[in-house]
This record gives sequence, structure tokens and C-alpha cells, in this order.
Amino acid sequence: MKGLVLSGGYGTRLRPLTYSQQKQLIPVANKPILFYAIEDIIAANVHDIGIIVGPNRDQVEKTVQSRDWDANIEFIYQDAPRGLAHTVLISEKFLDGEPFVMYLGDNLLCDGIVDHANRFRSSGADASILLTEVSNPERFGVAELNECGEVVRLVEKPKVPPSNLALVGVYLFKPIIFDAVKNINPSWRNELEITDAIQWLVENGYHVQASVVKGWWKDTGMPEDILSANNLILDEIEASCSGAVMDESVVQGRVEIGQGTILENGSVIRGPAIIGRECKISNSYIGPYTSIGDGCEILDSEIEGSIVMDGTRIDLRRKIVDSLIGANVRISESSKKPHGYRFVIGDSSEVKV
Ligand code: DAU
Repeated sequence: MKGLVLSGGYGTRLRPLTYSQQKQLIPVANKPILFYAIEDIIAANVHDIGIIVGPNRDQVEKTVQSRDWDANIEFIYQDAPRGLAHTVLISEKFLDGEPFVMYLGDNLLCDGIVDHANRFRSSGADASILLTEVSNPERFGVAELNECGEVVRLVEKPKVPPSNLALVGVYLFKPIIFDAVKNINPSWRNELEITDAIQWLVENGYHVQASVVKGWWKDTGMPEDILSANNLILDEIEASCSGAVMDESVVQGRVEIGQGTILENGSVIRGPAIIGRECKISNSYIGPYTSIGDGCEILDSEIEGSIVMDGTRIDLRRKIVDSLIGANVRISESSKKPHGYRFVIGDSSEVKV
């Protein structure tokens, strides 16, 4: 079996972060979201992986190549986000007639895909989809099942959803999917939808297997999804400290502290939390569900339930909560008159004070 991971697209719902950073590289618990998908595929004993890259291909390739993977990794360039089924179409040569698992690079699954992949290998099904109950099905692909649990109909982002069962972004296919993707037309959003391709399989009598996932699942399409994925991953973090805890600073609960990081001047870190390498935390409070990237400085500040990316400096005598803060950002208090908020903020940013 081969793997196909999608790391293209513009990530418009995550602007301004995605102006400078490919969406799937945004860190959750200090690891790019994309890496969770690659690790999961390898855990399912798949060692030949194609990664779809788009607008920021150099960034994705460099980040993936910065790690040693137990897999052959090939990058497949998609000139524009023309749809999930389009990524299958352009990967025909790489997939070379083998069954494959397709994994959306912005999806996170608590229990992973190992059982799912094994079931597909032994089932003889032509395709296998994962479903989960959601409260907002109109945001996803939605499946309608009959009383025997068989797939009757699939529809992408329906205005009136036939059920509350959303398609999770992990699919397993036999090569018959190529007939399907070649026989569908672009949708109203002008994309070749994988949902329509699977619907084509159903209509043409192929066996599409469906199972409902038990653990949590996250599509990290929006800022609040990224923060909630960060909470879920940090819930499982183990305590470890490779840094220095000085000047009566205190670490409470499960906190991972990277090499070269210094906690000083009575700082308090309350887990679950992760702090990267070479950070300086001085006279500050870092509260539960916070991820601080490498090379950050947090001075005289309080922060909780947030993600702070590499190289950022926060020097603010106030508390920051539930925030997604990019790399190399500067947040500080101004002593100059007139007093008031001073912003230098990029397009599509969101500020709540
Ligand atoms: O997350 C699950 C949902 O993913 C499913 O329920 C939907 O049926 C499925 O269509 C998909 O919906 P989204 O609207 O969330 O897909 P999105 O456009 O966000 O793309 C998903 C990932 O694939 C994202 O990481 C970007 C990447 N992508 C997307 C397109 C359209 C590509 O690499 N190339 C593309 O052409």
C-alpha cells in the first residue's frame, strides 16, 4: 500500500498565518500538523509516501526533509488547489496501480489509522471511509447510511445535511478510484471533489466500506480548531525537563521543557504545556494548554491556552489567553505618550482586547 498526504491549498481561513506559512506546517504542541499524518501512515506500515505540495512547496519540502523518516518520500506538485480528487489524478504515476491511503495533511486523529488500514487490507472493499458525528455537518462531506450501515449517498458541504456523519479526511482506495475521478465534474466551488468520486463508486456498484471513528478527530481549518487540537495533544504529553529552572521558579503538572530553556525570576509553569528549546521565561506565568516554540522570550507576562511560534518575544504586563501567535512576533508595552493601543498588524489579522 502507498500513502498520499495533502499539503497544498491556500489555507485562507487561517490568514494571516498562511500568508507566510503553509497551513499544514502550523505547529500543534510544537510539531507541524503534517508530521502527525506522516507518522500515522508509517505506523500503519506504509513506507512509500507521496506528499502533494502547492503554493509554498519549498517550505513544505524543507520542513519534511529536516527529519529522517522511515519511508521514501516523494513530492508531487499541484499547480493550484483544484480539489481533493484532482490530487489523486495527478498522483497516478506515483501510485502506480497500488491501493493507497489518502490523508488530508490538516487532519488529526486521536486513535490513528492503523486498525482502519488493517481492516481495509483484509476486507476486499474498493474504498473505505471514516465517519464521525459532528454538530455542524454542513461544514464537511456528509454520508447517509442505510439501516445496515451501508453507504447510500455522499454529499459535499450540503445546505441540508442528510445526517450528522461527517467524512473524516482519511480515505483508503483501490485503483478503481482513478475511473471515478476521471468521470466526475467540478463542483459549485470549481473543485474536483473526492466526495463526488466516492459517490460515483457507490452509484456504479463498487463496495465502499464505512466505519465510525471512536476517539477525537480534528480538521484544523480554523484558528479555534488549531487551539483545540493543541489542547487534545497536550492532554497526552509526558513531563520532561532538559532546561534550567532557577530563582524559585515552579513547574506544576505535566510540562515538557526543551534544551537550553531557562525559567527565571519566580516564573510559574502550569501544565499541560510544552516549551521549546532555547527559550527565556522570566517573571512570567505560562498556564495550561500552552505551547511555546523554540527561541521565544516571555518576560513579565502571563499566557494561557495559546500557541506561540518560534522566535517570538512577549513582554506585556497583562494576560494573554486563547491566542494563536505566529513566529518572530513582538508584543510589548509602550511607555511613550500618547498611551493607547499601537498596532502593526498584517491583513486578515484578528485582535480582541
Ligand atoms: O477535513 C475533512 C473534510 O475535508 C471532509 O469532510 C470533506 O468532505 C473534504 O472535502 C475536505 O473538506 P475541506 O473543505 O476541509 O477541504 P480543504 O479544501 O480544507 O482541503 C483539505 C486539505 O487538502 C487541506 O490540507 C488542503 C489540501 N488540499 C486541498 C485542495 C482542495 C490540497 O492539497 N489540494 C487541493 O486541491
